[in-house]
Amino acid sequence: MASADGPLAIGPISAAELQQLFVLFSAVVAAREGYPHAPPLTWSQFEETWVRPVSVVVVARIGGVLAGAYYLKPNSPGRGAHIANAGYLVAAAYRRRGLGRLLVADSVERAPLAGFDAVQFNLVFASNPARRLYEELGWREIGRVPEAVAGEDAVIYWRRVGPGSPPLPETAGQAVARSAAPTGRG
Ligand SMILES: CC(C)(COP(=O)(O)OP(=O)(O)OC[C@H]1O[C@@H](n2cnc3c(N)ncnc32)[C@H](O)[C@@H]1OP(=O)(O)O)[C@@H](O)C(=O)NCCC(=O)NCCS
Repeated sequence: MASADGPLAIGPISAAELQQLFVLFSAVVAAREGYPHAPPLTWSQFEETWVRPVSVVVVARIGGVLAGAYYLKPNSPGRGAHIANAGYLVAAAYRRRGLGRLLVADSVERAPLAGFDAVQFNLVFASNPARRLYEELGWREIGRVPEAVAGEDAVIYWRRVGPGSPPLPETAGQAVARSAAPTGRG
């Protein structure tokens, strides 16, 4: 992705970037955007979402600055662990430039490498604009949770990934390839 702020690199998070991710996620929680956490976010709550039960955390850096991230982790233990749960965020200053699309597409490609054959979202607020993105990239609504958070319904989304799964739209795939080619991953 071309950016006036510097080259884009997408890859696994480093230990040194955890504090920056805490700051990004705290801002998302404080704005009550997309996640059910109640502000102010504590370090322990941050770890519960982004560190302890997590299989993979991938970040997007623009000019070396942490601009976005996602996690993949088992949605359930044991026999249900082949289905991942994922969470995405992009720092407010970097939104609406296609970075979210890149990260979601990257997770579709990376989830099977981490052993998952599907990715499920359990609690997408009905009003979240990210729903358009998820549907564009192959997720389908499989249920609703009435009055899930602050009286608002939430949507459950599911998508198969890996062999036999719907391909990403050409534009999303190209975007991932472009980001990987000139700048490298991780
Ligand atoms: C959701 C989020 C990751 C999207 O990041 P982003 O980099 O702005 O997304 P993109 O620029 O790649 O947008 C991709 C598509 O998503 C949809 N979209 C994203 N933000 C939108 C908005 N504010 N209004 C309308 N559509 C939006 C559009 O369909 C967009 O495609 P388009 O630009 O071709 O119209 C970001 O807004 C965010 O971090 N939000 C707070 C946390 C959150 O809600 N995470 C998801 C939890 S389920």
